[in-house]
Amino acid sequence: MTTDRIRMFVSILLGIAVGGLAASAADAPVVAPTVNQLVIHADQGKQTINRNIYGQFSEHLGHCIYGGLWVGEDSPIPNTRGIRNDIVAALRKIKVPVLRWPGGCFADEYHWMDGIGPYPSRPTMINTHWGGVTEDNHFGTHEFMDLCEQIGCEPYICGNVGSGTVREMQQWVEYITSDGASPMTDLRKKNGHEQPWKLTYFGVGNENWGCGGNMTPEYYADQFRRYATYVRNFGSNRVFKIACGPNGGNTNWTEVLMQKAGRQMAGLALHYYCGTGSRSRSATRFDEGDWFALLQKALRMDDLIARHSAIMDKYDPQKRVALIVDEWGTWHAVEPGTNPGFLYQQNTLRDALVAGETLNIFNQHCDRVRMANIAQMINVLQAMILTDKEKMLLTPTYHVFEMYTVHHDATLLPTELTCADYESGQNKIPALNVSASRDKAGKMHVSLCNLNPNAAAEVNCTLSGVQPKTISGRVLTAETMQAHNTFADPDVVKPAGFSACKLTGDGFTTTLPARSVVVLEVE
Ligand code: AHR
Repeated sequence: MTTDRIRMFVSILLGIAVGGLAASAADAPVVAPTVNQLVIHADQGKQTINRNIYGQFSEHLGHCIYGGLWVGEDSPIPNTRGIRNDIVAALRKIKVPVLRWPGGCFADEYHWMDGIGPYPSRPTMINTHWGGVTEDNHFGTHEFMDLCEQIGCEPYICGNVGSGTVREMQQWVEYITSDGASPMTDLRKKNGHEQPWKLTYFGVGNENWGCGGNMTPEYYADQFRRYATYVRNFGSNRVFKIACGPNGGNTNWTEVLMQKAGRQMAGLALHYYCGTGSRSRSATRFDEGDWFALLQKALRMDDLIARHSAIMDKYDPQKRVALIVDEWGTWHAVEPGTNPGFLYQQNTLRDALVAGETLNIFNQHCDRVRMANIAQMINVLQAMILTDKEKMLLTPTYHVFEMYTVHHDATLLPTELTCADYESGQNKIPALNVSASRDKAGKMHVSLCNLNPNAAAEVNCTLSGVQPKTISGRVLTAETMQAHNTFADPDVVKPAGFSACKLTGDGFTTTLPARSVVVLEVE
């Protein structure tokens, strides 16, 4: 067969809408698709997928805030009160539900009063965690709340336990939410904001087992109880208090926190990043072994949630306390030539697969996982958006978040997937993962990831309890595992229409391209 004929065969096989896909599957190896079975219990479903699972995180780190979200009012880049208009427009499209700020490690060094009032009178500080740069505090509480209003999301503020006082934390919440006669209300009004803001989500410290004070779980549990006592509800505002949770698999932290402080918290925050360890750490230059290793590490999230949830179940069988994965994502080497303290990395199709599989895992655990915040929104780690002065691009990860908006606040549908393995040397992982939901209008959405970069996957799905009339879909894939968007070529990886799906007597059948994320809509 000539190369051209092979290409034509592959595009027919994969059913990708011609013209809609910037990077065709032209170079995909021609291997037989695996055959896989899926059952979706479309007539069942009790749990809601909290839209906050699709939350974001923005820290004073590198160019996330400064030079990313915030350019200042005097910038030639179009902005509204200093916040970039093009970024806000892009973030509105992915319906960001909640945004965590100001850190991260920065949170436990941040003194909020330095970030209010006229700019010239705001003191500077050294950002010791992230590059040792001078922070001018121009982006503070008012600017953050304005950002959330412009994006249309809820704020999630992380307070300072490591180096801040109880009084400081108490006054911050009072400043933001109090309308009564109080010194902090007066100060807020003096600084130009008459009405209190609504603030639901408040973190009592960040990574207090590490950069947030190097505490033991016993010591932090006591500190949490003490600080949280003074995080008050003013007026009708109700604060959802989130305790620092475990680092990855540290189940002892969860055990101690739940035992000593479970009754005082509304949420417990888990952090888990996946990197490529001793193999290539580059975001863009990697081989199939690195691809496999990263996707396998990302799948560990499922086991982590299960293990921490089992401990939480012991102390909280009613599942009142939410598990909040408020930092997750890929952590690669920084882009060559950039400040190592700024954590600026590129984002390929591989990162998109990590996002797709992780979000499927969160959806599947939505009974306990009720918020997650990918790290981080702009220019840092697994970002949605990268900027270079006035230019910006949407990453493959952004596109997954956009495709998965259909799951926000939808009802999770139980699924049973029997699929082929994806093998690498002695190791293997399930090649596919899935989650399915029914939205308020009754439409069903199925998000499927094919982690195998070489083989397409036929999926034969039985739907119980419904008689669907239509099926359609969208796909995110590309010619290579390393495909990514650049400022010169920003549309290499972007979603396309997907037609390799059709209804059958009792469900549907589809063929997922190798290395792809597919979202199907069934009505
Ligand atoms: O997201 C970058 C850093 O990773 C955060 O500041 C910290 O909480 C974590 O270790």
